[in-house]
Amino acid sequence: MRETWLTTQGLVYPMFVCPGSKVRTEVSSMPGVYQQSVDQLVEECREVESLGVPAVILFGLPKNKDARGSEAVSASGVVQRAIEGIRKAKLKLLVITDVCLCEYTDHGHCGVLQDGVVLNDPTLEILAEEALSHARAGADIVAPSDMMDGRVGAIRSKLDAHGFADVAILSYAAKYCSGFYGPFREAAQSAPQVGDRRSYQMDPANAREALREVALDIEEGADMVMVKPALPYLDIVRLVRDHVQIPVAAYNVSGEYAMVKAAARNGWLDEQRVVLEILTAIKRAGADIVLTYHAKDAARWLKAC
Ligand code: PBG
Repeated sequence: MRETWLTTQGLVYPMFVCPGSKVRTEVSSMPGVYQQSVDQLVEECREVESLGVPAVILFGLPKNKDARGSEAVSASGVVQRAIEGIRKAKLKLLVITDVCLCEYTDHGHCGVLQDGVVLNDPTLEILAEEALSHARAGADIVAPSDMMDGRVGAIRSKLDAHGFADVAILSYAAKYCSGFYGPFREAAQSAPQVGDRRSYQMDPANAREALREVALDIEEGADMVMVKPALPYLDIVRLVRDHVQIPVAAYNVSGEYAMVKAAARNGWLDEQRVVLEILTAIKRAGADIVLTYHAKDAARWLKAC
């Protein structure tokens, strides 16, 4: 009688790569998640692959941050080197890269700033360059998470013009301005230094607007669309699933992970039970792809049952 089956297929494991070698620092608000150098990250990727999780998404912590996020587009940037490391290790993992500037800018915003205001259009060219440099390094899928208007189109034309027509775009289409990104901002050291992201991320009170955002991204060439966060927005996942024909992803974000971990550590929740319940619920709501920090644990538990 069961309608929804949870499998490792469709799970994506998010990872944070930093400069150096032999670095592996646990993120305090995300037990089990590390900021790690390329060598360490490749080792963990071996484990991810052996558990049957098909894909990872990479976030970079650059050596230097500046106003324009220059390291984001550098061929020797951390994400670019991590992709090359994964490829060199001959892993079959699908490599997705997060395309955004907030990890790379000294002000922590997802675009370039002028007088404290994020400039949409001047940011597009930098994002397109960033996506191109990830494609050159060997990324299979690029995932713009900045929420600038027009970035999917800008990235698509840039990739096509340079012979990367086969690199797909997973767009963070309905990304809400959420308090649940808190632990991520510790992990990626990307909290905005002034202001917040309300001018470019979505109002949690809006549902119809998600359909407009999704429609624009599909028109511009998105191959898959994402709703983020997942749990407080399962209605949006369902709404989007019912309106589009392409794959829908949901991001079970850092704050959602941290809540489960904290409660489990206190003995207040049965971690395995609630994680499998959460992931099943996200799939039941209509997600084909689930980005989750629980991916490795879920794969182990699914194997055992
Ligand atoms: C970058 C980005 C964020 C997340 C993914 N990409 C943070 C933000 O918008 O502040 C959050 C992921 C998570 O919380 O796990 N723009």
